[in-house]
Amino acid sequence: MLPLGITCHPDKHRFYLVSENSTYVIGVTLDKKLVLNLYWGPRLYSMDDIPAAQLQPERSSQDPALTTAPEEYPYFGGLRFGETSLKVTFPSGTRELDLAFVDHYIHNSHHLVITLQDQYYEDVVVCLHYKICVKTGLIERSATISNRSSSSFSLHIDKMLSAAWHLPPTINNKSRQLTTLNGAWSAETQVNTTVNLHTNNQYTLGSTRGIPSAQAYPYFALTSESNLPNRQDTYFGAIAWSGNWTIRMDVDYQGQVRISGGLQPLDFGLTLEAGETFTTPVFMAGYSSLGIFGARQLLPRYLQQGKINPILYNSWEAAGFDVNIQQQLDLANEAAKLGVELFVLDDGWFRGRTSDKAGLGDWFYDENKFPNGLKPLADHVHSLGMKFGLWFEPEMVNPDSSLYREHPDWVYHYRERPRSEARHQLVLDLTNEQVRSYIYDRLRHNIMEIGVDYIKWDMNRPISEAGSQLLNNNNTPFGQDERDAREVWISHVNMFYHLLKQLKTDFPGLLIESCSSGGGRADPGVLKMVDQCWVSDNTQPDARLIIQHGISSVLPPSMMSCWVTDMPQEDPGYKSIPLSYRFHVAFMGALGIGSNILKYTDEQKTEATNWIKLYIKLRHILQLGDLDWLHADHTRFLVTMTTIPNEAVLLAFRPSSPFWFPIPPIRLRKLDPKAKYELELWTTHNDSQVETYSGANLMYKGLDLPYLTSGAYKSVVVWIKKISDS
Ligand code: DGJ
Repeated sequence: MLPLGITCHPDKHRFYLVSENSTYVIGVTLDKKLVLNLYWGPRLYSMDDIPAAQLQPERSSQDPALTTAPEEYPYFGGLRFGETSLKVTFPSGTRELDLAFVDHYIHNSHHLVITLQDQYYEDVVVCLHYKICVKTGLIERSATISNRSSSSFSLHIDKMLSAAWHLPPTINNKSRQLTTLNGAWSAETQVNTTVNLHTNNQYTLGSTRGIPSAQAYPYFALTSESNLPNRQDTYFGAIAWSGNWTIRMDVDYQGQVRISGGLQPLDFGLTLEAGETFTTPVFMAGYSSLGIFGARQLLPRYLQQGKINPILYNSWEAAGFDVNIQQQLDLANEAAKLGVELFVLDDGWFRGRTSDKAGLGDWFYDENKFPNGLKPLADHVHSLGMKFGLWFEPEMVNPDSSLYREHPDWVYHYRERPRSEARHQLVLDLTNEQVRSYIYDRLRHNIMEIGVDYIKWDMNRPISEAGSQLLNNNNTPFGQDERDAREVWISHVNMFYHLLKQLKTDFPGLLIESCSSGGGRADPGVLKMVDQCWVSDNTQPDARLIIQHGISSVLPPSMMSCWVTDMPQEDPGYKSIPLSYRFHVAFMGALGIGSNILKYTDEQKTEATNWIKLYIKLRHILQLGDLDWLHADHTRFLVTMTTIPNEAVLLAFRPSSPFWFPIPPIRLRKLDPKAKYELELWTTHNDSQVETYSGANLMYKGLDLPYLTSGAYKSVVVWIKKISDS
């Protein structure tokens, strides 16, 4: 019987990574030359189900067996012509590796390290790391390369990905579907499905912007119909890295799929001096036999931090840069009355910041807008029982700022070349210690002096002209000290992480929200360091449902910031979106308010207060539960169900109903068919109705929602509670 966790076969050549629902098997060939994936799929119970690793015979001299072998970490060398995960250059000029298995190590039955060594340069060692979560089956993979030589031998790394995953051919190859999350600014994480992946084809995703980007999220899901009933094999994964990344899917002539991913190879380069080591970011992936539905449960559950985030107010959409002390005090008073728990002052509070043209970098309060600083505002917010939050964009500087005038060389640039501005700003060189200590010093002082409980860390442009004066004094590909200047892409992200870690260490209770012009930096890497993510600047409910549908494939609901706003203010067609609809859309994650609440009528204030009270009653489910999409037809109707043991919340939306047809009964999931459930339904904020059904009725017959039959922007909240087992 195979136990949960990681086990090694007595032959010491097979490793089993077993979770509650899946198994991943790795095998080493007898000659120790190859480390192959032997199986990935539903849980296995016996070691002997999987034969020892063996290289399949080659098809022809033009189709070498090595090229199609499911190697755990295919590197550039020998007859490997497929996508590789690692390529190096030795000082001798040799540009190939020849790695063989040396040994393995299992730590606490959940972390496996497989060590490989180059056959000629024995000081070059590669370790493959596997960490398994036995609950969800998520496997975190990364790779470490070490130059263990004691001489001055330096190794150049031309490319290094985190992992390669292999999927066997399906019965009908064409039935494979690839799901990705792509978009643009204010249109992030739209679910795209590519049907029928073709053999001998490649599909590539990635970012070269220095951030994960709004254009493509570092996520994939591959689904295929199985010839077993009720089974849809889905493999899914995401890269935990807040910088340049790639995910590439290669389908070979037999229909086997190799999924390679990690650091973007474009403009990548690293030099490892004697004694140095480099570890890649984590590429995590999992398997579900329940299709996309199963994948949606496992990844967010794996990333869930298990804590509730407070209800926030932020005046960015109401006030923009035009902030001042009196307006913020007034907003704080209103926010507290509505039930808000965290009051955030966004952009515009610091010197010279009247628009996006100036001020970034000068993190000192603006004396015209806040004559006595921000402490009186923070004190007032605290006296109202709320936490106080402040916006920063620490990695940036406007050329029109004191910081830039004093230190024009603190930004990424190449000497004698233009510095491209975006949103009138340039990117500070975080690899420069002086820059980092300036940034951290300003953050620390502001947090301490003002009494800041939360910061929103923004980044409103991609990185370009990534020349670091520190790494590259000569503007040559290899700087003075022989380091590869292209390391800068990695160093920037590591330094960003370093600053976040330092903040969390020095201010243990500090909440941090990651933002990059919306959802440009919400990858699993940053999720491990922050409390929540801003997922888009687009808060229009129709758009938001599309964006939330995509990002909730990865983000647990507690980390997905969702605001009620007045957007779009200029478009009269949208004026009719009821407040109830706006609230219900925002109920899906960590609730925030961005409306101009000073303009709310008394009626709107009462309504908002009531919805907030209801949200507080339901948020242990809405934030900490498994969010599942029962229907996501964005033009007709959408239904989500967020579940914890014995309770669930259903949110149902009807954006328009041109023919007044009823929506079909909604079949719920994950209930006990024999149990009885009490349902409380809210369509308006001051009235609810209670109904009782069996689990079987709700799951097989389905729940009728007649309120959604006619009218546009209709929505319902349903609280489902188990009241008896039969
Ligand atoms: C972009 C963010 O996404 C917005 O929420 C806001 O903070 C602005 N930046 C401020 O400049």
